[in-house]
Amino acid sequence: MFKFSKSFMPAITLALLPFATTTPSIAADKYTGVGRAATPAEIQAWDIDVRPDFKGLPKGSGSVEQGQVIWENKCASCHGTFGESNTVFTPLVGGTTKDDVKTGNVANLKRADYPGRTTMMKVASLSTLWDYIHRAMPWNAPKTLSDDEVYAVVAYLLNLSEIVPDDFTLSDSNIREVQKLMPNRNGMSLKHAMWPGKSGLVTATPPDTKNTACMSNCKPAAKVSSTLPDYAKTSHGELAPQTRPFGQTRGQGAAAGSSAKPAHNPDYALAEKSGCLACHGINQKIVGPGFNEVADKYKGQDAAAKLATKVKNGGVGVWGSIPMPAQTDLKDSDAQTLVKWILSGAPTQ
Ligand code: HEC
Ligand code: HEC
Repeated sequence: MFKFSKSFMPAITLALLPFATTTPSIAADKYTGVGRAATPAEIQAWDIDVRPDFKGLPKGSGSVEQGQVIWENKCASCHGTFGESNTVFTPLVGGTTKDDVKTGNVANLKRADYPGRTTMMKVASLSTLWDYIHRAMPWNAPKTLSDDEVYAVVAYLLNLSEIVPDDFTLSDSNIREVQKLMPNRNGMSLKHAMWPGKSGLVTATPPDTKNTACMSNCKPAAKVSSTLPDYAKTSHGELAPQTRPFGQTRGQGAAAGSSAKPAHNPDYALAEKSGCLACHGINQKIVGPGFNEVADKYKGQDAAAKLATKVKNGGVGVWGSIPMPAQTDLKDSDAQTLVKWILSGAPTQ
């Protein structure tokens, strides 16, 4: 993460000085007492990045065996038992071979006919995997894993990819050695396009842009000539509220730039706010059953109380082998409201 170095501080002070002397009323006195310097503990809490040279990596360790338990409890519901994923999420594991571990280049990335691109095929730095899981996963409860748990679950993903053996323990002292086994460690390059083009391979297509800034006689701004159709925008519910409000993927509300009517039903909004729509479509299965299917199944039965308990505690086996995680932060009254809304057909308006 970006750190203020000591040499950077005087530059800021100098830049502010003329401002302070020419407009004294806006400067220090108006805002006296506002703000304070961040404490070292606060900076430390933000400063969690792990770099490719493993700078920033906390000490710790975790075994493949421990990782399997964490994986099955906290990751498999979204990423699949073997990291092969399900309908929504991209696969993490697969497509790498023992040969790739030797060469450091994933051969399947160079095959236009190979059907998928998994995380393990693409990731070049083990630090990225460690850092990402540490900061962002599990998706529904980021930053809840201890450092040792992150080591363990990374070890498990490496084991699923046949990079380390079953009895392996990953630690801060051997992670550099494991980096030397990453299947795509030599695969990073800027000399290719974002999209495959005619060749069918990004690596065989030259970069889309040369990235020189236009300074004169520049083309006018591009006109948008096509957009996602409405059905594609809403196929997993309203994306915008399900996505974090920062970073690259913000999601787009169906209402934005489309003719679909925005949802007005307050219970629909509660389902969105509670994260239910990441896994349940109104009219189709995503990870869990579509709410229409749930309403059909329990039509004419007195199932509300039982279902509200299931929503709170989670469970598995009624709709298949993917578990519904417990919704521990959901209020009992909200669980009841949501179930009533689902059983009434989950109206969005
Ligand atoms: C509730 C669903 C869910 C759970 C549970 C979950 N993930 Fe994820 N995971 C996602 C989503 C969604 C993304 C993509 C997020 C994004 O791009 O912002 C993702 C992305 C990832 C990626 C990066 C994939 C890539 O190529 O960019 C890794 C690695 C990962 N998850 C590992 C884990 C691990 C390890 C756990 C368990 C500790 C876990 N996930 C639990 C939903 C989940
Ligand atoms: C991480 C994915 C996920 C999230 C988030 C999620 N569910 Fe589920 N839900 C599932 C799965 C999977 C099932 C099927 C479980 C089974 O087969 O027993 C399910 C089942 C259900 C059922 C039917 C239960 C039964 O026994 O028939 C209801 C009702 C339900 N979910 C409501 C909700 C509500 C309300 C929320 C939000 C508070 C929610 N779910 C959040 C995945 C999820």
